[in-house]
Amino acid sequence: SESLNIAVIPGDGIGPEVIAEAVKVLKKATEAEPVKLVLTDYKLGAEHWLRTGETLPEETLEALRSHDAILFGAVGAAPGDTRIPSGLIEREMLLKLRFALDHFVNLRPSRLYPGVPSPLAEPGDIDFIVVREGTEGPYVGNGGALRVGTEHEIATEVSVNTAHGVRRVVRDAFRRANDRPRKKVTLVHKHNVLVHAGHLWRRTVEEIATEFPEVTHDYLHIDAATIFMTTNPSRFDVIVTDNLFGDILTDQAGAITGGIGLAASGNINMDRTAPSMFEPVHGSAPDIAGQQKADPTAAILSVALLLDHVGLSKAARRVELAVETDIASRDELTDERATSEIGDAIAAALS
Ligand code: NAD
Ligand code: IPM
Ligand code: MN
Repeated sequence: SESLNIAVIPGDGIGPEVIAEAVKVLKKATEAEPVKLVLTDYKLGAEHWLRTGETLPEETLEALRSHDAILFGAVGAAPGDTRIPSGLIEREMLLKLRFALDHFVNLRPSRLYPGVPSPLAEPGDIDFIVVREGTEGPYVGNGGALRVGTEHEIATEVSVNTAHGVRRVVRDAFRRANDRPRKKVTLVHKHNVLVHAGHLWRRTVEEIATEFPEVTHDYLHIDAATIFMTTNPSRFDVIVTDNLFGDILTDQAGAITGGIGLAASGNINMDRTAPSMFEPVHGSAPDIAGQQKADPTAAILSVALLLDHVGLSKAARRVELAVETDIASRDELTDERATSEIGDAIAAALS
């Protein structure tokens, strides 16, 4: 049978703990599929850098390109760890991968599963996706510092937005909206202040909207979007936004739908010129690492997104259903199951 070659990057902190469970579920979910699952582990991350001084060597990047998809845990040191420059691994490994593999769609779905308590008094039906741009914005490292340490220091971070980059992610958001029952796109930006980028995004949305007559669209400034995210999240269907706004909004989206331990994501190269990468939205959580306290559900739901991407949508639905089943049986107040016990339960719930 055809082989499915998956690169696995467990990373740091709770990364290896949640990825072990995601792999468990991936193996079981593909047993009945006509594919031979081949997993290749890559040691990368803060711990790896401390041992070797490597962030993402060129050979490793090239090797990663040969896979059908990448399953990624999390990287990053504890905030107080002075042995590692802040954000070094995040930028030189994680962001480098997203840029090099052209992951222009950072897909982050949010759903309030039945039985999951939300911190909102009246959450309503929450079921939206955030299509976050993944290769541009203020993330590209375009900026610098002058006269560092003096009273005259100037630090700049210049957001890069290209017509090509904005168009392809906006079109992707409209396509996804077109396939959903509510068919609605919300652009989130801040064009009252960020005039140049804001107008490019706005114009692009108006232009792409003409290609999708059945899809409606509206606009919110990022500050107002965070209000609606708490007061009326069911107003959202597909949100399209830039790299930084999308980062912030999706942590909030995770929080209102039962916590960051449930939030999955895909860094997707929709043109399929390089492998896409699937990862939980959360980080390495140094505060709970190594204690089997992490919820592996976000990593497991990321496996469902991976399976969808490689064309195994039946297996993807089975993983989602197994998660739903497990979640429905959880009692958040008394759930003290270890990471591996949650993984076992979800694997066992696979029908
Ligand atoms: P974080 O997401 O790691 O943790 C935030 C809070 O959420 C912590 O209290 C943590 O215990 C909790 N949490 C996270 N995942 C959880 C899970 N699966 N189950 C239960 N609780 C969970 O964010 P942070 O503390 O800002 O960052 C820690 C490190 O991770 C930093 O070095 C940061 O740069 C890095 N980071 C990496 C990624 C990534 O690899 N994609 C994403 C975010 C942060
Ligand atoms: C995320 C993370 C990353 C981001 C960091 C670690 C670079 O917060 O995946 O949401 O900002 O994209
Ligand atoms: Mn984030």
